[in-house]
Amino acid sequence: MERELALEFVRVTEAAALASARWMGRGDKDAADDAAVSAMRAMFDTVQIDGVVVIGEGEMDEAPMLYIGEKVGTGVPPLVDVAVDPLEGTNIVAKGLTGAIAVIAVAPRGTLLHAPDMYMDKIAVGPECRGKVSLDVPVRENLREVARALGKTVEEVTVVVLDRPRHEEIIEEIRRAGARIKLITDGDVSPAVAAAYPNSGVDILMGIGGAPEGVIAAAALKCLGGDFQGRLWPTEEAEVERARQMGISDINRLLTMDDLVRSNEVIFAATGITDGDLLRGVRYSGRQARTYSLVMRGKTGTIRYIEAVHQLDRKPFFSDNRIRLFRGGITGPQEDR
Ligand code: FBP
Repeated sequence: MERELALEFVRVTEAAALASARWMGRGDKDAADDAAVSAMRAMFDTVQIDGVVVIGEGEMDEAPMLYIGEKVGTGVPPLVDVAVDPLEGTNIVAKGLTGAIAVIAVAPRGTLLHAPDMYMDKIAVGPECRGKVSLDVPVRENLREVARALGKTVEEVTVVVLDRPRHEEIIEEIRRAGARIKLITDGDVSPAVAAAYPNSGVDILMGIGGAPEGVIAAAALKCLGGDFQGRLWPTEEAEVERARQMGISDINRLLTMDDLVRSNEVIFAATGITDGDLLRGVRYSGRQARTYSLVMRGKTGTIRYIEAVHQLDRKPFFSDNRIRLFRGGITGPQEDR
């Protein structure tokens, strides 16, 4: 993949963030998501790739856009797999909380795991802890290793966990080990990535979240030299069958970062929607909006931060139809009144 594509991918996440951020705090997570999806879909049409969505908004019959198997881009090489989450953290935006992002990961065709839409047990750490943690060892042991690798005491290690009843046991184990916990309401991609940033205030992500989000987080950690492990966590027999159909015959298999993302030629791009550990959210001022994004490449490990000022009434890249979609996202809530 050409390095110039990195900027094109940021334009895609920026579009989704700009569209969705208008819905912050409005209590309508579906509208926030629809706006992000429409804008991301429209912007993808301008990108010079022959892409196929492998992680998306759902199956073709349940999602009108960015469904699994949908072709995106102008249809010219490179041939790539695309993982999208136009709005990672729908509840976050609906409630105006912290940490929602628009995110994509793109890698050569056939290299991203087609993860079924089900839960995954996850562990994510930064470069210093690479190869030192495992889903197969007790929580206490992982925390001891992380502390040692980071030159901290266990009491100084901060673990991010989704605040869910299913995590009662792991939270108890972390507390018994003595580490600090940051419970989050939603959105486990952003803290998984933040774990690889020194001074982000986050050292490790643990617990069960979405499997598609696991692939996206693994793509980022691959670029950052961190580590990620996952194990599918089905809640019903049908999910085991679904995983089998998607090529995962052993549901209990430990999935390493290389199983989830099988190439170093991966690009990860994200734009903040609401303020978070990783990125600032969208800021509006008159007809301008400011976005904060990052884009990184696995091949070189380069991370670029892009602060962009958008003139909301001048979007020359869109055809009439796309302007409508895009502006619908940007000005939707106001126009509805
Ligand atoms: P949405 O953006 O689709 O609402 O998902 C956000 C999220 O919090 C993910 O970050 C996380 O992996 C998953 O949902 C957790 O699922 P659940 O809310 O069912 O515990």
